[in-house]
Amino acid sequence: MCGIVAYVGGKDCASILVDGLRRLEYRGYDSAGLAVHTGRGVDIVRAVGKLNNLDIALQKTPLKGTTGIGHTRWATHGRPSEANAHPHVAGDIAVVHNGIIENHVALRRALEGKGVRFSSDTDTEIVAHLVDEAVRGGESTLAGAVRAALKQVTGAYAIAVVSSKKPTEIVVAKAESPLVLGFGDGEMLAASDIPALLSHTRDVIFLQDGDMALLSREGVNITKLDGSQVTREKKRIDWSPTQAEKGGYKHFMLKEIHEQPRAIEDTLRGRLDVQAGDVVDEELGITEALAKKINRVYFVACGTSAHSAMAGRYWIEQLARIPSTVEIGSEVRYREPVFTENDLVVAVSQSGETADTLAAVKAAKAQGATILAVANVIDSAIPRASAGALYTHAGPEIGVASTKCFTTQLAALLMLAIGLGRRRGTLSASEARRLVDALSKVPHQMREVLAKADEVRHIAKRHIRARDMLFLGRGTGFPVALEGALKLKEISYIHAEGYAAGEMKHGPIALIDSEMPVVVICPRDVHYEKTLSNLQEVKAREGQLIAIATEGDRDVARMLVPDEAPRSSSWRTSVTQLEPDVSLIEIPSAEPEVLPLLTVIPLQLLAYYMADLKGTDVDQPRNLAKTVTVE
Ligand code: G6P
Repeated sequence: MCGIVAYVGGKDCASILVDGLRRLEYRGYDSAGLAVHTGRGVDIVRAVGKLNNLDIALQKTPLKGTTGIGHTRWATHGRPSEANAHPHVAGDIAVVHNGIIENHVALRRALEGKGVRFSSDTDTEIVAHLVDEAVRGGESTLAGAVRAALKQVTGAYAIAVVSSKKPTEIVVAKAESPLVLGFGDGEMLAASDIPALLSHTRDVIFLQDGDMALLSREGVNITKLDGSQVTREKKRIDWSPTQAEKGGYKHFMLKEIHEQPRAIEDTLRGRLDVQAGDVVDEELGITEALAKKINRVYFVACGTSAHSAMAGRYWIEQLARIPSTVEIGSEVRYREPVFTENDLVVAVSQSGETADTLAAVKAAKAQGATILAVANVIDSAIPRASAGALYTHAGPEIGVASTKCFTTQLAALLMLAIGLGRRRGTLSASEARRLVDALSKVPHQMREVLAKADEVRHIAKRHIRARDMLFLGRGTGFPVALEGALKLKEISYIHAEGYAAGEMKHGPIALIDSEMPVVVICPRDVHYEKTLSNLQEVKAREGQLIAIATEGDRDVARMLVPDEAPRSSSWRTSVTQLEPDVSLIEIPSAEPEVLPLLTVIPLQLLAYYMADLKGTDVDQPRNLAKTVTVE
């Protein structure tokens, strides 16, 4: 999310910066801006909306100069507006930033205490003021001032900084958000991603976390934040511009599946208090009074978001002991539902614009319910209609089929349940600590699952001729089964059904024969034994089994292939294809509550590879839209 471009060299840079930003459009944005050193000082032009608006603004106020920084902003703190658009200015300093400053509340208070006046709601402006403060404090180099500022900052960032006093310098720095340097002829560039550089150079350096770089026409000096010199290897990029946009992945969907560990880190950032065993109040907007007053949680959502809401319901009931219900937006709006002032309506929506969800929100609000939005797009219609918003910070999702937005919604909803549980006294600090700890491990565990992508591809290949598929799960594995089936039908056009495994005997079992692939989600949780029986039932009917189980689960192995499992000691990590019709995908052992964040990943990959092998348009499946603003 957000795009940064920086240029220092011999050419007029405004058009170079805008062109670079255009090549980063796929990252999503809602406003844009430039800061260029004109020879007399740094001038700024910003505009809300698409880059064409910035072009128009630049026609009115041309920026002439050969050193500059540009930015497209995807709102995270503060609504999309010209005042919140980057660059942000303090004294001689202008800053663009991608990421989230975790300690922004404390830093802002401290700066305000010293008399600093802010002109935006952003966390980025804090960085500009901190750099300016260092300059005023006597720091003579731009690199030194940025270093002093960043020492106070925690969080994820890629920044680029220019100063009125330094006409031929740009300082950039990176922690967790991406930043690539490009080496031109008598010019240096920096950008959030390679596509912005390709028309100028193919020679790049990927900065690493904790790196800072001083860019000038002559080249670059890279140091760590503490000032110590580092050398980074220059690489030559031979990707086409489209390949570069997708980070080398074949489709945005695959890229977004692989982005999930980072997306979850962004969702959790600054919101977990591991020591206290709690989630941070300020961000979540759950006051004790609100938590205590609620006597029902009513989720409204559509599509994938309705599946994460279903998991949210399990957690709210289990951890906060509040009766909860989930309804899809299109049903609520015409059902004349009854809401009360003691209802908390949680509207889950990636886009924040889905018409049916919005209509349900309005109906609930009219009856006095409190509305909380769980959304990805800041300041979109649903958060605006709500009393509070819990943003998922997944970044823009380009693939129509939702992946990282689903798992970040799960993380947000689990945090909400923990927060409500603590404030209502239904969840002890030690239990909350267990959950917070489990959540913080998820990104790492997701990486372990993603490392098995190739194995999942092999499994997909085996089932490519399937006409129907069944997905079964219990507890929070049920919404995961629904989501697995939805992913498959959305992008591969293979008919798929998700079922609560306990319902299998009430119908779907009639479908099972040797032609039918059946995915059974059976990790080690409270439902494990029962789901194993389902597995057995599928096997007895010669269904083609794909089991999602916990790593090292020998019981599942014995059940899948009775003779095979005990013979090999290494089978647990090496075998996924146990028999022609039996596959096993293992996920790391984890606390039961976070399992859906892991078990869904093989299902996303399975759907992706089946669709790709069939040759469908994965990122833009037929008849589907990413955001549905009509009924
Ligand atoms: C569309 C999209 C789905 C999404 C649903 C709800 O159908 O194709 O991926 O889950 O809308 O969208 P929302 O933005 O409200 O989460």
